Amino acid sequence: MSYGPVDLTYTAAEQRYAKVPYRRSGNSGLDLPAFSFGLWQKFGTDYPFATQREIILHAFDLGITHFDNADRYGPPHRAAQKNFGRVLAKDLAPYRDELILSTKAGNPIGPSPYLKGGSRKSLLTSLEHSLRDLGTDYVDIFYHHSPDLGTPLEETVGALAGAVQQGKALYIGISNYLPDRAHEAAELLREAGVPLLIHQARYSIYDRRPEQNGLLDTARRDGFGAIVYSPLAQGLLTDKYLERIPEGARAADSTFLSPDAIDETYRRRTAELNKIAAARGQSLAQLALQWVLRRPEVTSALIGASSTAQLDHNLAALEFPEFTDDELALIDEHGIHGTGLNL
Ligand SMILES: NC(=O)c1ccc[n+]([C@@H]2O[C@H](COP(=O)([O-])OP(=O)(O)OC[C@H]3O[C@@H](n4cnc5c(N)ncnc54)[C@H](OP(=O)(O)O)[C@@H]3O)[C@@H](O)[C@H]2O)c1
Repeated sequence: MSYGPVDLTYTAAEQRYAKVPYRRSGNSGLDLPAFSFGLWQKFGTDYPFATQREIILHAFDLGITHFDNADRYGPPHRAAQKNFGRVLAKDLAPYRDELILSTKAGNPIGPSPYLKGGSRKSLLTSLEHSLRDLGTDYVDIFYHHSPDLGTPLEETVGALAGAVQQGKALYIGISNYLPDRAHEAAELLREAGVPLLIHQARYSIYDRRPEQNGLLDTARRDGFGAIVYSPLAQGLLTDKYLERIPEGARAADSTFLSPDAIDETYRRRTAELNKIAAARGQSLAQLALQWVLRRPEVTSALIGASSTAQLDHNLAALEFPEFTDDELALIDEHGIHGTGLNL
């Protein structure tokens, strides 16, 4: 694809590969940065484009080469990938070969039956639109966003594999699949000659399901990676909500994080976790990120940020010593599944 005339006002930092370690995704040949960046929140028309561009370019300068999108991300739907596409065209086009761009399809983006689910029609139509939004000929990873139990898995998998065979995606991912269905999808993809690269699931100190329901074990056995989203539980695993809900924070602004999540139980547990972090000389955000990355099955922690300062702060998470067994046991006491998330 031609990107047209490129305004070369941005030059990537020379030392961009010095900070973030890379980790292999399952049995594939692909390494991903330990931190990947997602554009779910504050990358639509609701936040200044100049700030969005600054965050994306700062992330790349820090060594985050993987940017995660979905047809749904906005508001409105598809706006986040259009905004990323603007930055790609203007600033990152010379670096396209260094980027791992992902998108997802399947979560509802409109009333039409072809704007949701796991049918061939929905998935491949969405992918066409996403390529146009992003302004690229291919995505590096194409995901089915959530399982669709009403569509034969063979059809969904066939469409995903077809995207790779047509050169529109390099790798395939699935997201939010329970372990059994993830295993089935991995088998079908292997038979189709397009091995499953990665599974995207929510995992944090406050959402322990991937370790409890066997998803991480399945990933190891089937040889796919795990990229874990909302490792900070959308900001709940920071110290920002201990006293009050700050203006502009996600719990104040977003329909995806209710202020009701911040109740007394949440505050008590979070204050205890905050003390454990302080005793290690780090912040709670840094402890929470280091904690998800302690699992070898986890290829990458998929984070969001509303400022470059948050990125700088969070990426320092791997500069601290590994957890001792005693520290992990202490975290388990307060890191209880469901805390503050109304699950
Ligand atoms: N596959 C799926 O179904 C699915 C679902 C959800 C997300 N995802 C992916 O995962 C990505 C990350 O999700 P997420 O944004 O929920 O991840 P997260 O890292 O748990 O939360 C990020 C948010 O926490 C706040 N924050 C970050 N660092 C902070 C710090 N040091 N101090 C205080 N607050 C801080 C910021 O929100 P504020 O400053 O705005 O409060 C930031 O946007 C998404 O963008 C998307 O790509 C996938």
